[in-house]
Amino acid sequence: MNNNNIIGTPLSDSATKVMLLGSGELGKEVIIALQRLGVETIAVDRYANAPGHQVAHRAHVINMADGQALRALIEQEQPHIIVPEIEAIATDMLVEVERLGLAQVIPTALAAQLTMNREGIRCLAAETLGLPTSPYAFANSLGELQSIIEDKIGYPCIVKPVMSSSGKGQSRINNASEMQAAWEYAASGSRVDQGRVIVEGVIEFDYEITQLTVRAKNTAGEIMTHFCEPIGHVQVHGDYVESWQPQVMAPLALERAGDIAKKITDNLGGLGIFGVELFIKDDRVWFSEVSPRPHDTGMVTMCSQVQSEFDLHARAILGFPIDTTLHTPGASAVIYGQMDAQGIAFAGVQDALCVPQSNLRLFGKPEAFSRRRMGVALANGSDTDEARERAKLTASRIKPIKK
Ligand SMILES: Nc1ncnc2c1ncn2[C@@H]1O[C@H](COP(=O)(O)OP(=O)(O)OP(=O)(O)O)[C@@H](O)[C@H]1O
Ligand SMILES: [Mg+2]
Repeated sequence: MNNNNIIGTPLSDSATKVMLLGSGELGKEVIIALQRLGVETIAVDRYANAPGHQVAHRAHVINMADGQALRALIEQEQPHIIVPEIEAIATDMLVEVERLGLAQVIPTALAAQLTMNREGIRCLAAETLGLPTSPYAFANSLGELQSIIEDKIGYPCIVKPVMSSSGKGQSRINNASEMQAAWEYAASGSRVDQGRVIVEGVIEFDYEITQLTVRAKNTAGEIMTHFCEPIGHVQVHGDYVESWQPQVMAPLALERAGDIAKKITDNLGGLGIFGVELFIKDDRVWFSEVSPRPHDTGMVTMCSQVQSEFDLHARAILGFPIDTTLHTPGASAVIYGQMDAQGIAFAGVQDALCVPQSNLRLFGKPEAFSRRRMGVALANGSDTDEARERAKLTASRIKPIKK
């Protein structure tokens, strides 16, 4: 059943069925939000017992980059809606699935395809839509990298594989002597060994934000665009360590952020939440990238908004109205594995939860790596400074241990 005013009963013929492609911590929370609405959920990931597997009606382990395997599973499960949670998916098969009308892909199959590759989304943003971005160019070899940096981009610059996320394979280079290492690191960090990189000039921003943007239907069935309050965050090695909401912004910068987010999400289309990543300096705003799904920095909304980014996504994709109201200033701080081991335990939970207005999410990942995100601390405060201090204190009291 996938009608905008109806939800069926899970595990019956009337069930409204949603399949998550990628079942990490973000997928897990989307599944919980869907479960609360009485949706039948199917969690898919590349390894067993992924966070979302643990809360879904059914769990599957497949290689989602394998189009045939993906198609077979979709035909077996017959979901009404498919929600990509990660980028590394055979998106050409999603395009086919959408074309054949087998399921609705969120936000659209084309949006999933465009955003999985930095080249597609950057060219759309800068060249088709004329949005301000860092200077950029692409290279297929070390020689080509050298000439585009010398002729076009200059130093300092950032080299990234065209297909990667969470800062993997990304490095900043300040001079020619660092170029070869950056090239090799990019090749090793690329999801698909394409040997193609993007080089970006460094934007010396004052701060960066995620502008969560939701495309949802109103009661007349028209798709409207809604903005959450901006989320500020700190990134280390291209991976988020801390976020807070609201990030205070100058009025003109806020207006420009909204304009950019509207233009890019209008173009991508469909229903659901988008994380639009922007760099800000004074009143200037640059587009960096966009995820057509909940954003890791947006985990803060689990404590700061009336409807978290996961609730918003769940409601929007089902065609229901949403509300982006901020509840209380909040912050999140990441908890890393801090070791490479299976089945670790977390000590200090009692001490952590003694922090006023704190909360915790432990994702339940079966295997820890030292820099793998295993949980997140959340906290509220009278302002974001207080919330940040509390979230960081909460996270610091959690000690991963071998059991
Ligand atoms: N051109 C740039 N100028 C300044 N800082 C940059 C630039 N590109 C990236 N960064 C910094 O590196 C971070 C990660 O970059 P980016 O978002 O492109 O990588 P990613 O691998 O897609 O990360 P994620 O998946 O976590 O969003 C940015 O949030 C920003 O802090
Ligand atoms: Mg990013």
